[in-house]
Amino acid sequence: MNILITGGLGFIGSHTAVALTEAGYKPIIIDNLNNSDIKVLDKIAEIIAFKPVFYQGDCLDKILMLRIFDEQKIDGVIHFAAYKAVGESVQLPLKYYQNNIQSLCILLEVMQEKGVNNLVFSSSCTVYGQPTSLPVDENAPSLPANSPYGNTKQICEEILRDFSAVNPFKTIALRYFNPIGAHPSSLIGELPLGIPNNLVPFITQTMVKIREKLLVFGDDYPTPDGTCIRDYIHVCDLAEAHVAALFYLQKHENTSLFDTFNIGTGNGNSVLEIIKTLEEIANQKIDYQVVSRRSGDITAVYAATEKASKILHWNAKRTLKQALTDAYNWQKTAPSPKGE
Ligand code: UFG
Repeated sequence: MNILITGGLGFIGSHTAVALTEAGYKPIIIDNLNNSDIKVLDKIAEIIAFKPVFYQGDCLDKILMLRIFDEQKIDGVIHFAAYKAVGESVQLPLKYYQNNIQSLCILLEVMQEKGVNNLVFSSSCTVYGQPTSLPVDENAPSLPANSPYGNTKQICEEILRDFSAVNPFKTIALRYFNPIGAHPSSLIGELPLGIPNNLVPFITQTMVKIREKLLVFGDDYPTPDGTCIRDYIHVCDLAEAHVAALFYLQKHENTSLFDTFNIGTGNGNSVLEIIKTLEEIANQKIDYQVVSRRSGDITAVYAATEKASKILHWNAKRTLKQALTDAYNWQKTAPSPKGE
């Protein structure tokens, strides 16, 4: 089975290409290289022992998208390609609305024209905002998004719900919690552009002296140690959730389907716990300073995982320590950050 992975050279896309291959699928990748590196293709090839078919281009390019579906027999699509920087989306909302929403609409038009009806979509726990009860399950109401980025995820889910309601089309939206880690080979991992926005790559870059020190955004939250709590999931577990979702879509008898699943571990860890665990792994002190809260951050979120376990037969298998060890090992050999 051939699976088109949009954004397949990115952090989650590249690990998913590997997981799909291990499960017997054939990945076909499209990526515009805006926030990824062509060298990742060779690294994927090193892991899976062949080079996936690759198209360099943009999902907004409908002519290219149609050509891919003509040239390859596509059986399903996993759509990662999107902009994802929360802060940038506040500054440049149109960039996010145009790219993230328009590319999904074009993809749906192309899939409809070409009769391909299985789609796994990258959504985010950002759709929940600060949930009123934890762990948060899929029935919790979507709260108004606190960034244009978050809003694009909510809007895309609505588009998929509406589209699947009137077409023979099956979609699963996976609501990711906080992906971290890297492939245990250290051949692929996270390559943030410029200064990382996210906690774990910022810490690992501090550990290898690319950054001077970590700023911890607030220790006055109503949590046990005062820092925010998130559900950190190993990217390889997350990648395997896409395989489980595709498998479910393919065997599902109804011709139309839209469903959402949390993809997390079910555990919440604070910023200070992440720092401490990495200090233990590397036997090294991490230089950090507590500063004021970052605007838009929620206090705590972690996933209820029963639905994915029961319906997709998927559970996160790797520990936090494993994920942080793989993130640190990757950082030690990772290429220098681009875009500074
Ligand atoms: N943090 C720091 N210092 C840093 C970076 C982060 O203290 O330099 C803290 C944040 O304040 C937060 C925690 O570490 O408390 C996690 O922050 P991340 O930026 O790593 O992750 P977020 O939970 O803020 O964001 C992630 C994804 C978003 C997604 C969101 C959904 O990066 O794309 O989860 O909740 F929208």
